[in-house]
Amino acid sequence: MEYKNLIVEIKDGIGFLKINRPKALNALNSETLAEIGHAGNELNANKNVRVVIVTGEGDKAFVAGADIMEMKDLTALEGAAFSQRGHEAMNTLENMEKPVIAAVNGFALGGGFELALACDFIYASDKAKLGFPETTLGIHPGFGGTQRAAKLVGLAKAKELIFTGKTINAQEAYEIGLVNKVVPHDQLMTEVLALAEKIRTNGPFGIRLAKECINKSLSLANKEGFALEAKDFGMCFATKDQKEGMTAFAERRKSTFIGE
Ligand code: CAA
Repeated sequence: MEYKNLIVEIKDGIGFLKINRPKALNALNSETLAEIGHAGNELNANKNVRVVIVTGEGDKAFVAGADIMEMKDLTALEGAAFSQRGHEAMNTLENMEKPVIAAVNGFALGGGFELALACDFIYASDKAKLGFPETTLGIHPGFGGTQRAAKLVGLAKAKELIFTGKTINAQEAYEIGLVNKVVPHDQLMTEVLALAEKIRTNGPFGIRLAKECINKSLSLANKEGFALEAKDFGMCFATKDQKEGMTAFAERRKSTFIGE
């Protein structure tokens, strides 16, 4: 599919989803949100794609938020619908059956921060600036930020970020657990590609089920979580990946996984 506001590419088993509205610092309007959902589904369905990298076009912004120009005259009902369009896009990324890495290459504000939080984890340029400026605009995060931020950093830190609307740098974000690694700006893509490559060579089926177990751990009671883990662990033994991984270990060779 052709995208107006995204660049979607696949290279060597890695899918790239790049938000491409650099003149508006990659702000997310409704059209871009719909395209993120389509692209997420497309990359998810493509068996050749093992890992997805989400980033922003240009040198300045990952995504500077939801599109304020589109939002400014919305009614209450239209605001709720806009939020739901954001949720659909973000949930598509969160629920993808493969790892999704956010490469935050600049401003990740409001809806842009929420986009990064919907990914499995974040690598950030040392020039990145992250935050929730929504309350400075008289609103609050609407693309999942009130739900996802607290799960990562705890209620009090999430409230401080959202109530103040302050912007933090990549190092501060790293220190509170929002970002997995801070990388010199010009090495961000090299580092993220090396990480994606490491993940790409591991068993896709095991990774997919691990992601399901980990994501569901947030909403399941311990007992159900362990039951899910045991079920998914068992399912791994019905796959060619498990046979290949353990046979390769026994034969002292490198495994080649096919994701089946
Ligand atoms: N929506 C629409 N347009 C935006 C935008 C946004 N979120 N962020 C930047 N732009 C546009 C600007 O209007 C400007 O367009 P023009 O050239 O046509 O005037 C262009 O991008 C460049 O921006 P600036 O000139 O402002 O660039 P700067 O370097 O001076 O400042 C910035 C950069 C600090 C990121 C600043 O652009 C900014 O504060 N942007 C808004 C950040 C924000 O508040 N985000 C949260 C939005 S609310 C939200 O996301 C709600 C939600 O949860 C669903």
